[in-house]
Amino acid sequence: MSSEKFKLAVLVSGRGSNLQAIIDSIEKNNLAAEISLVLSNVKDAYALERGKKHGLEVVFLDPKVFPGKADYEQQMIDLLQSKSVDLVCLAGFMRILGEKFIEAFSGKIINIHPSLLPAFPGLNVQKKALEHGAKFSGCTVHFVNEEVDGGPIIKQAVVPIHDEDSIDSLSERILEQEHIIYPEAIRLIIEDKIKVSGRRVLQKA
Ligand code: GAR
Repeated sequence: MSSEKFKLAVLVSGRGSNLQAIIDSIEKNNLAAEISLVLSNVKDAYALERGKKHGLEVVFLDPKVFPGKADYEQQMIDLLQSKSVDLVCLAGFMRILGEKFIEAFSGKIINIHPSLLPAFPGLNVQKKALEHGAKFSGCTVHFVNEEVDGGPIIKQAVVPIHDEDSIDSLSERILEQEHIIYPEAIRLIIEDKIKVSGRRVLQKA
């Protein structure tokens, strides 16, 4: 049996608390993986500091120095392929990925989103759930396809919305669940426990 570890790339743009949850799961031996690269499109993303603290390779790739989205994404593809990445985990990565990138890592890109998809795709979704008057929201880990926040759903957690909730209090309770289900979803993939059937993600027999 090969001793090669399953290789993750984690793409970030900000605080990096989901990156931290993945790091913690690996360090507690709950995930048989290594993070080969933390890649940010934002220079001062705190996620980069978190990666450095744990001795990970971190890269800031500045979209402004590339002539266009396609060139930027080609650079991302080259970098990730040079690391032989098995799974690309978007963890608060606030850029919409283009077709070429998605094709290059077909079936190997996952995202965490702070709502119960298909309700509330897009941005500021905790605010949208609250303002809509939903009684429950939550978070979703899904495969990434060409449709924004629209790929097959791997895992979800439900979070009740209380009368006294603010955007901050709701976001915080959703985030706690994100930190649980994201490493769990990654584990299902590493352990080859799931298969995609149309839109559905099913447990393998
Ligand atoms: C998380 O709530 C994540 O679900 C969300 O950004 C936050 C990143 O936090 N992602 C999206 O909204 C993607 N559309 P983090 O940087 O602390 O992990």
